[in-house]
Amino acid sequence: MTVTIVGSQLGDEGKGGVVDLYGDAADVVARYQGGDNAGHTVVHDGEKYKLSLVPSGAVRGKVGVLGNGCVVNPETLFDEIDTLRDRGLEPDVRVAERAHVILPYHRALDGIEEEEKDDLAAGTTKRGIGPTYEDKAGRRGVRIGDLLDPDALRERLEYVVPQKKALAEEVFEKETGEEFDIEHLYETYREYGKRLEEEGMTVDCGDFLQERIDAGDNVMLEGAQGTSLDIDHGVYPYVTSSNPSSGGASVGTGLGPTVVGQGDVIGIVKAYLSRVGTGPLPTELGGVEDQTPDYDASEGAGEDEEELATRIRDEGGEYGTVTGRPRRVGWLDMPMLRHATRANGFTGLAINHIDVLAGLDEVKVGHSYEFDGEEIFTMPPTTEAWGRCEATFKSFDGWPEVDWAEVAAEGYEAIPENARTYLEYISDELETPIYAVGVGPGREETVIVENPYE
Ligand code: IMP
Repeated sequence: MTVTIVGSQLGDEGKGGVVDLYGDAADVVARYQGGDNAGHTVVHDGEKYKLSLVPSGAVRGKVGVLGNGCVVNPETLFDEIDTLRDRGLEPDVRVAERAHVILPYHRALDGIEEEEKDDLAAGTTKRGIGPTYEDKAGRRGVRIGDLLDPDALRERLEYVVPQKKALAEEVFEKETGEEFDIEHLYETYREYGKRLEEEGMTVDCGDFLQERIDAGDNVMLEGAQGTSLDIDHGVYPYVTSSNPSSGGASVGTGLGPTVVGQGDVIGIVKAYLSRVGTGPLPTELGGVEDQTPDYDASEGAGEDEEELATRIRDEGGEYGTVTGRPRRVGWLDMPMLRHATRANGFTGLAINHIDVLAGLDEVKVGHSYEFDGEEIFTMPPTTEAWGRCEATFKSFDGWPEVDWAEVAAEGYEAIPENARTYLEYISDELETPIYAVGVGPGREETVIVENPYE
């Protein structure tokens, strides 16, 4: 039995909390894409843990797996594991031998290319994610399995590193250091390989997960980022370089789509919108200027909108976990969610952060777009067209600030009526039932309507 958790918007929908909550019933939590670009904070026994790569379930004694669809920076991996161990935990983390390795030259090139791209820059986390997936597709990547095999590692580095060095020095005219030095890389990454081997961390991901499923274990498949950041279904080129959408859960773990499809696919929705990085955002409120070189929504945004944006940003703690950048915020965008619902085949929704909107007189939703004089209900396929869309808003009466912990304890009917009207509009429009409602940052502050493992 699998349950797949997918971000339906632009990442940071609060997937961590849902993974954490439903993950109680899971024995294994596997990530299927992305790398250390995905920040999440886990609170366990009153202690806060900040992780960007290790699946959060590992903090709670689950087996955490990094699937073959992930890109793994071994330095981050071992830093996170060592920090958890220093704090008295014994994380059980497995890594797919087919997963690709982020090398220091990937990080260097991520920064160099972002600078070079100027208006086309995605505002990446500069963790080397894109360049590593590029090498995967270019068949010049280094995989986790290669770190265990000295000859394979040397052969791959000897082929690829001179190309990367020439790219940095001759095309981008940058000075290079040890991150482009074959010997240094070989020595460092062989050591990581030895440690992976000594600690028995590497697996054939698909086999490992299928065996656990056959033995009756509950497996959770955890997506990072969100559907609008998906390289195929998102707002290209302002996207990440993998498939956060549910198809990635199969390809990125080695479990068949028929296996993944037997379980629930839960779309995590934030009750409003936020994003780090660049690209259009039709329902944006105010703007964060330095991240929006091409589409600066702050132009023409009234003072009231700026104030509202700041209020939501501060209430919702909308500052990047990995980078600390202030996030851009906007009203909920229904065309984006209709697109995500189809692309992922959601069977249930977890709608988060309705508490952040409490106390507003009016809550708006981008119900449809006006696009070249027509009303459309889903996202157009090109980002240029999306940038021309103007949101047509629906307005909802606001709901009061209440004791959300009490609401979580009492259940769905205790949610203020106007908030329920808002939630039910979303569920009706997407023809998908609500499984959970997030009413605060803590894992106890969630109203559970349906538990997918029961
Ligand atoms: P990359 O994944 O670092 O290559 O960044 C590509 C785009 O995805 C940028 O717009 C990032 O801001 C965005 N992004 C990457 N990871 C996350 C995340 O965990 N949450 C939100 N946005 C993300």
